[in-house]
Amino acid sequence: MPLIHSLYPLLRPILFKLDAETAHEWTVKLLRVAHGLGLLKSEVQNPKSEISVLGLKFPNCVGLAAGMDKSASAVDAWLACGFGHVEVGTLTPRPQPGNPTPRLFRLIENEAIINRMGFNNPGIHAAVARLEKRSGGGIVGVNIGKNFDTPNENAADDYVKCLHAAYHVADYIAVNISSPNTKGLRELQAEEPVRRLVSILKEEQSKLASQHGKLVPLVVKIAPDLDTTQIEMLARVFSEMQLDGMIATNTTLSRTAVKQHPLAREAGGLSGAPLNQGSTEVIAAFRQLLPKTIPIIGVGGIFSTDDAQSKLNAGASLVQVYTGLVYRGLGLVSDIAKLTAF
Ligand SMILES: Cc1cc2nc3c(=O)[nH]c(=O)nc-3n(C[C@H](O)[C@H](O)[C@H](O)COP(=O)(O)O)c2cc1C
Repeated sequence: MPLIHSLYPLLRPILFKLDAETAHEWTVKLLRVAHGLGLLKSEVQNPKSEISVLGLKFPNCVGLAAGMDKSASAVDAWLACGFGHVEVGTLTPRPQPGNPTPRLFRLIENEAIINRMGFNNPGIHAAVARLEKRSGGGIVGVNIGKNFDTPNENAADDYVKCLHAAYHVADYIAVNISSPNTKGLRELQAEEPVRRLVSILKEEQSKLASQHGKLVPLVVKIAPDLDTTQIEMLARVFSEMQLDGMIATNTTLSRTAVKQHPLAREAGGLSGAPLNQGSTEVIAAFRQLLPKTIPIIGVGGIFSTDDAQSKLNAGASLVQVYTGLVYRGLGLVSDIAKLTAF
């Protein structure tokens, strides 16, 4: 394990003294410096951990969840930490500053985070320019969304713009319709809008595939706050539209598990340990309903190899982490990466 992975128990108290967003910025800067100095070399991947999903060969089952590297500024550093894939974004057609600060809160007693970042990002073109400059390999997903001031009737235009801009640099495209921090975004998960959006994007994907001579898979990222009827409807739409895959789940609006915490009333999406079980249940429900041809990437509250294994047992083909990194550090990635496909 690289030195920086084992240093986290010393680093964490320092980072936790800073406000959460500053700590995040410093961590990314530190990683980039460490990568520049060659300090992040992860151990050689075990070929037994390789797994084929979405028509791609992933070196292992664990990826970096969207939101950690919104601007694609440290992709090679994350890959050098041992991630089998990195999902950048969410990116919108135009740059936008996101919500006013403070907008990121640690609920330490619950090993959770509440965020209402609001898609702060440099815009799809700036991120794509960064990805074009990369020379290394590694699997990179590009997570796309709509600008906060684009009305839902025109949302598809934003997703199409992002799909076109990122197609040549992406190994897969994640369509985010589940962030709770962009007003009305989750309404795109309702039957008529989701059917329309997925059908438009699948049509564009097929045009782009002929132009570029490669099919970049499209996956849709959904919320954990769905009832059985909504899950059944989404599974039906995704099957009919022959979607390439899905990501379950984004953050939750529920506060049941953290209601005693003084920060529980902060607006935004809750992630981390309290989301673990709910997201696993959503994965299991979709796995029962979807054909095998539609893989699921499982995310939500993974803090250990056992947590990752539970998501795989529930039917996920790959997993992703975000909040677990904040509380456990990068050692978590090396551990999960050792899991072998079954
Ligand atoms: C600060 C923060 C920002 C996030 N930003 C995004 C985002 O821009 N797009 C997205 O699809 N998910 C975003 N997420 C959700 C994560 O990708 C993930 O789905 C969720 O946090 C659950 O996983 P976790 O419990 O391992 O954090 C964000 C999460 C956090 C904590």
